[in-house]
Amino acid sequence: MEIIFILRNGEEKKVSFKEGQTVLGVAEENDINLHGNCEGFGVCGGCHVQIENLFDKIPEASSLEEDTLEKVSNLNMNSRLACQIILNASLNGLRVKLV
Ligand code: FES
Repeated sequence: MEIIFILRNGEEKKVSFKEGQTVLGVAEENDINLHGNCEGFGVCGGCHVQIENLFDKIPEASSLEEDTLEKVSNLNMNSRLACQIILNASLNGLRVKLV
């Protein structure tokens, strides 16, 4: 299973993932520069990404995630925290844009 990161320079990087990994975990494993300063607790907002597809397959954001997203810059309708997205087979092919 794979997800595609769209890097800040527009380049796309396809990487594989295992069920149960977070998007942040996959990014870290592949040296993709996402800043998870709170170690994935969903409070720093450093792992903000924008999701380009399959948005309806991702469970809704928790109130903690929503509160954190309110503080990030470049927020849009597709904004999520990479540390809060747990990957499964239905997210194969997910496109994740770094902000
Ligand atoms: S790592 Fe801090 S909000 Fe995701």
